[in-house]
Amino acid sequence: MIRSVLLGTGSALPKACVSNEELAKRVDTSDEWIRERTGITQRYIAAEGETTGSLGAAAAQAALDDAGLTIADIDLIVLATATPDNTFPATATQVQMRLGGKGFPAFDVGAVCSGFLYALTTADAMLRSGMAKRAIVIGAETFSRILDWDDRTTCVLFGDGAGAFVIEAQDVAEDGAGIIASRLHADGEHGEMLYVDGGPSTTGEVGKLRMKGREVFRHAVANLSSVLKEVLEQAGHEPADIDWVVPHQANFRILDATARKLGLPMEKVVVTVDQHANTSAASVPLAYDVARKDGRIKKGDLVMLEAMGGGFTWGASLLRA
Ligand code: UT7
Repeated sequence: MIRSVLLGTGSALPKACVSNEELAKRVDTSDEWIRERTGITQRYIAAEGETTGSLGAAAAQAALDDAGLTIADIDLIVLATATPDNTFPATATQVQMRLGGKGFPAFDVGAVCSGFLYALTTADAMLRSGMAKRAIVIGAETFSRILDWDDRTTCVLFGDGAGAFVIEAQDVAEDGAGIIASRLHADGEHGEMLYVDGGPSTTGEVGKLRMKGREVFRHAVANLSSVLKEVLEQAGHEPADIDWVVPHQANFRILDATARKLGLPMEKVVVTVDQHANTSAASVPLAYDVARKDGRIKKGDLVMLEAMGGGFTWGASLLRA
């Protein structure tokens, strides 16, 4: 069967790391509150000149290097972001240019924190249909640019960064490597729970992030545990078969509650929210890259990716590394 097989991963973070203590000097908050409520201890914040496009390109180049490939081997770029460099052109086209590519399709996908799952599922479908052979799938964000730094209920939660996968269509055996099953969902009814209060067609301004944190938390745990069950059922696997879960890194308590619901020990959950905070679409590929490079995720492991974000949107994807 034709599957999209992961050939390489990469990630990129801004240079500046901001600890909770440093943030508490500017915002009415404390290291203790942020740690206890979220598990976050620090985040990376983009400086002038560091953008979603530059971080995305750096992560993509790292993924190409990891795969032992060059941009000449690629025929598709899908980039997930809610913080593009410009309203248009799509940041994916600028990443293509920065990498020295030309001609092949490159486009952005917008599903906020679930963006990487949406981008990966789209690229996977294009690869399996024969429309492309080798894709770079990127999650890249600079949420620091859409935060209201006077709103302590949101500004302490997010960070900037990028992660990337290189995937290739391969003819593999049923128990072979690659993306096995994916499910995506959306429910626009809850749009006002997590949104940006501006945009080109409404205010003409970029706007700032607004969130009803407690409600988002409740929906996240319910939606994530249900989509994980769906994907496992579709793939014919049990929770116990999973070697690693790489979740969207919004809040340690969400990761813990979702793992409990599935009866999965936290030892199988990759946690990077403490280091990176919530990097929206970048968080899943960033966390995957960390866990692969430090030797946790090994070839042949069964890995579940999952995310939930504004929209609401949510999804999960099961792959064999
Ligand atoms: O990536 C997309 C998905 N996003 C998420 O998954 C986020 C989901 N939500 C959450 O992670 C949590 O709901 C938060 C971390 C946002 C908030 O945690 P919480 O335990 O739900 O706290 P809360 O909103 O109920 O606030 C508790 C208290 C409030 O004070 P009172 O009303 O009890 O006196 C807040 O004013 O904490 C206060 N508070 C803060 N205090 C210090 C809120 N933010 C802060 C802060 N520092 N930064």
